[in-house]
Amino acid sequence: MSGLVEKLTLAEKAALCVGESFWAMRGVERLGVPSIVLTDGPHGVRRQPASDDPGLTGSAPATCFPTGSALAASWDVALVEEVGAALGREARAQGVSVLLGPGANLKRTPVCGRNFEYLSEDPLLSGELAGAWIRGVQAQGVAASLKHYAANNQEHRRYSVDALVDERALRELYLGSWERAVATGRPWTVMTAYNRVNGRYCPEHHELVTEVLREEWGFDGVVMSDWGAVDDRVAALAAGLDLEMPGFGQDSDAALARAVTEGRLAESALNRAAGRLLALIERTAVAREPGHVDDPDAHHALARRAAAAGTVLLKNEGGLLPLAPDADVAVVGAFAAQPRYQGAGSSGVTPHRLDDARTALGDRPYAPGYGRHDEAPDPALLDEARRLAAGRDAVLVFAGLTEAYETEGLDRPHLRLPPAHDALVEAVAEANPNVVVVLANGAPVELPWRDRVPAIVEAYLGGQAGGSAIADVLTGAAEPGGRLAETFPAQWERHPLRALPVGPRVSEYRESVHVGYRLGGVEEAFPFGHGLSYTTWAWSELTVSAASVGDAEDLAVTATLTVTNTGPRAGSDVVQLYVHDSASTPYRPEHELRAFAKVHLEPGASEEVRLRLDRRAFAFWDPGRHAWVVEPGRFELRAGASARDIRARAAVEVTPGPATVAPSARAALPGPVAPFPRGPFAALLDRALPPNATDEPGSFTRNTPLADMRGSPVVRALTAALRRRLADEDGHIEPLFASMLDDAPLRMFPMLTRNALTPGMLDGLLALANGRAVRGLRATVEAALERLGR
Ligand code: BGC
Repeated sequence: MSGLVEKLTLAEKAALCVGESFWAMRGVERLGVPSIVLTDGPHGVRRQPASDDPGLTGSAPATCFPTGSALAASWDVALVEEVGAALGREARAQGVSVLLGPGANLKRTPVCGRNFEYLSEDPLLSGELAGAWIRGVQAQGVAASLKHYAANNQEHRRYSVDALVDERALRELYLGSWERAVATGRPWTVMTAYNRVNGRYCPEHHELVTEVLREEWGFDGVVMSDWGAVDDRVAALAAGLDLEMPGFGQDSDAALARAVTEGRLAESALNRAAGRLLALIERTAVAREPGHVDDPDAHHALARRAAAAGTVLLKNEGGLLPLAPDADVAVVGAFAAQPRYQGAGSSGVTPHRLDDARTALGDRPYAPGYGRHDEAPDPALLDEARRLAAGRDAVLVFAGLTEAYETEGLDRPHLRLPPAHDALVEAVAEANPNVVVVLANGAPVELPWRDRVPAIVEAYLGGQAGGSAIADVLTGAAEPGGRLAETFPAQWERHPLRALPVGPRVSEYRESVHVGYRLGGVEEAFPFGHGLSYTTWAWSELTVSAASVGDAEDLAVTATLTVTNTGPRAGSDVVQLYVHDSASTPYRPEHELRAFAKVHLEPGASEEVRLRLDRRAFAFWDPGRHAWVVEPGRFELRAGASARDIRARAAVEVTPGPATVAPSARAALPGPVAPFPRGPFAALLDRALPPNATDEPGSFTRNTPLADMRGSPVVRALTAALRRRLADEDGHIEPLFASMLDDAPLRMFPMLTRNALTPGMLDGLLALANGRAVRGLRATVEAALERLGR
């Protein structure tokens, strides 16, 4: 189909490169090329009833799988691929050709409001699991859209913030996750992020989109924008962005076609983009064949299995879990009856069923303990819970984050639970020593009472079957299969990243490569990789295929150990292989995850786990050479049950070989202590740090966030109009939409108003906001008249 490009007119080619509506990409009717549907999102299919419906609710029923953090905690590549396949089947049964996921952004900080959708703080784990998800989806003929490329690690000011990341951190961590996902998943589309990276907006970032993604990694699919991310359509196309989403009206296509006729854009660039878009339509043809059906029961069962597999047993003193079959157990906490099971924002789906733990646990004494959506403790409910708890064999306390605490569009100000939930745990723990806390949240939380309760289970946001899955785990019908894919810090207030600037204009990644478990100085409540089991495990010594290897491009070492299930129950264990560089010129984290394997074993059974390490497992990115460099010397391979629980070690000596080069002088910058002060960080970035200030009146641009232009009456009026448009009939406004009233820049107004405000009108309004009254009025009126004339 890409051969059809020659038959297209300039206008048709330009039209292909801009969405048809909120949820569709254009085809070419004249040539029988269909328009195709794109839909969110990572843990379920969110098909809105109408293609111009920007709403976050009312999508067609679909299976709500566990969200990214729960799926990742399974560390189970095969399972994630299975979930991907189910998502792909549901997508095509609903007529969807492109499913907008998975999210491969690293969890740089625990407070990112969208961490529930993302997978891990580690690039290897994130990239492997994203790749598996993509393989599953695409095996059904549906395209995945790996998002949001790149360094979209915070929600605060996400539409405009400039992520300042040094080249090493970018390559080793932030791009590392994408590189892996592209290599293992071969996605058919990639979605660029809203933010800037080192001064340039992602859709216009030639280096990221063309040089790295396409030329270095061999990505051969479509690059699309996040919704409303494109500022300069012509610059974005020239940088390698094929598709602008969404699309209303013809302004963007007209701009593209004009740029070609005026010689500002090479027609060959437009041809390439159109060719890729036609190829995407062709690649997804299977998805549009008639007769695809969905299997809700089977998918519900899979969602249940996946939720149990992603459940992490954080603590289990005295073997309190699994519950004895005849134990007298009370259930407290409103989440048991009305679960929190997914995150808020564009990923939210309408589940076709919803299990709750209270029902799934059978007929047990129950008290809500707190108001389902309340912050403040309710003394009467606490008293009732205390009375119910006293004297039982065990008490299950369901706690976690309410919907208001985690959402796309907003970062969390702290990691605490709602006070009502903390109070319930404390109250029940006073009344009964045998407390099991069951947590529902999409990202790390502080657990100030963690030393005062014997058992804690992190159930994450388990999707529509999370209620029955957690009952399976608590009763022992299923094992808690999860291991944390992220660090749980003890306290955000004392976290080294907390003091770093996250706006208004720039977010300084001064910790460089020291993210998550790689960062020192963090008091960890539960480390990356941690998770207990109902059975017991023995690991043998770690052996290596060669104690000494030469540094060559095809360097390979296999590390082997035998895992034995020594306990009475079937279960799974995760072997995590970290590499420690014993002496290196550049600063390096203490050790880094380089391979992992999940094993499922019956009681008494053993399995030999073989983990392969290639050259990259020993390399760092040298910002002076712009290349991966291995420094010959001694490395220690560490097999761990978490980043802090190393069970077996083996040494490997890398000797100089054909690939050896000396690290550049830049590789040694800036010193061992992270996060770095401004000066050393600027040296690392190799440029002066830009000022971190808002735009001044007179210099507002289409990318200035609304909140920074509030002084302007015209902007205040626009914001008020936008609020009315985004609120529902009762005046309620979703948190994601509310965040836009501060963070959205003017460039998003055509999308937010479905082109009621055209880009031309915005230029006029911008001039008004900048105090240029005559010019502004004239431009606004002219653009309005032009629109009326259409
Ligand atoms: C989100 C994307 C999502 C898109 C469409 C954006 O605001 O960042 O993840 O796919 O909207 O809903």
